Amino acid sequence: MDDIVKKIVVLGSTGSIGRQTLDIVRAFPGRFEVVGLGNGFNTPLFKRQIDEFKPVFISTMGEIEAGYGGAKQAPFEDIVALPEVDLVVAGTVGCAGMLPTLAALNAGKTVALANKEVIVMAGPLLLAAAEAHGATILTVDSEPSAIWQCLEGEVSKPSRLIITASGGAFRDRTWGSLRDVTPEEALKHPTWDMGDKITIDSATLMNKAFEVIESRWLFDIPFDRIDVTIHRQSIVHSMVEFADGSLKAQLGPTNMGQVIQYAMFYPERQANSDLPRLNAVSMGSLTFEAMDRTLYPCFELGLEYGQKSGTYPAVLAGADEAAVSLFLQREIRFTDIPDLVSDTLAAHRPVVNTTIGDTVDASRWATENTLARHSKSTILS
Ligand SMILES: NC(=O)c1ccc[n+]([C@@H]2O[C@H](COP(=O)([O-])OP(=O)(O)OC[C@H]3O[C@@H](n4cnc5c(N)ncnc54)[C@H](OP(=O)(O)O)[C@@H]3O)[C@@H](O)[C@H]2O)c1
Repeated sequence: MDDIVKKIVVLGSTGSIGRQTLDIVRAFPGRFEVVGLGNGFNTPLFKRQIDEFKPVFISTMGEIEAGYGGAKQAPFEDIVALPEVDLVVAGTVGCAGMLPTLAALNAGKTVALANKEVIVMAGPLLLAAAEAHGATILTVDSEPSAIWQCLEGEVSKPSRLIITASGGAFRDRTWGSLRDVTPEEALKHPTWDMGDKITIDSATLMNKAFEVIESRWLFDIPFDRIDVTIHRQSIVHSMVEFADGSLKAQLGPTNMGQVIQYAMFYPERQANSDLPRLNAVSMGSLTFEAMDRTLYPCFELGLEYGQKSGTYPAVLAGADEAAVSLFLQREIRFTDIPDLVSDTLAAHRPVVNTTIGDTVDASRWATENTLARHSKSTILS
């Protein structure tokens, strides 16, 4: 099988997931051909990636001179749907990844999906699009990937999923004591090195609610059969319980390389000496604690609205994106994040029988509403 070359498009190539995806491309010369790259605004790094990987097509939110590096510019949605593309790595952050992900699924592609917000916004609709067009979604998120790996080869459905959580940057503090924490403090994740938005979502545990929602749709299991446990070491990435009481776990280093590579080569596994390995003897103790949900208002909010039908989950994602960006810009306090998200959800008039277009509109409305609500309260206060 070694001579198969996968033609790939990497969206969000300049981000944490995108850069690690390109590390794997580098580690396996001759196994991947980068047909397209897409990014946001980090033009200097994007240009270096174009110079190195020589994609035929690029898409950017930034400014790049026409014909740079010999690449043609095209919309994200067009690049992912090119007939020659085998694999799309969706490493974009937030609601902006929705339409490119949908376009890839509608074109019947295999999508390695890190951009979890889009599953939160419209899980059932994306799964239906994948089914209708023969497309495949492979998760690139460590906890759902662990569940996926535990389920491989099983013919029986799981009776329960147990998602592990590090607890984020403030796991030993009460919510009330977090009023004055700075973005720098919140960005210090105890075990993972990731992009800014997911690191703040990890500190509030909104990210854990997103993973529960993601797992509910990807593995077709009801919400009440998904548990979350605090596991400080982040070595057990998640567990699956079966009807006979047997529990399977997937363990790995706190490094997304394995997770990305698993999706890129699936169903093969490949040796990669660039990636760290776990040593069972030096692992030390592994601890699992019950989660005190009262400590994490974003987790409660995320689960409550992520379970609702219609446009509520998209509003949850859009409002959270705006609130996190306001916190990172020091416009609001850390502890204001759930309040702002909650106010936007309360103001929303949901659309039932939702289309993808409705979810995109709802998330945009939520982002604008959250930003406007904040600026209004700033003027009044
Ligand atoms: N990082 C991890 O370890 C990890 C683990 C599990 C899941 N995830 C998920 O993977 C996704 C990416 O996370 P990340 O940590 O890689 O984020 P990140 O480092 O912030 O990277 C985000 C990428 O998206 C691009 N981007 C931002 N806004 C865009 C827009 N409007 N249109 C097109 N591209 C845009 C950015 O481009 P520029 O930088 O050029 O502006 C960057 O390439 C998130 O959904 C996250 O929850 C990440």
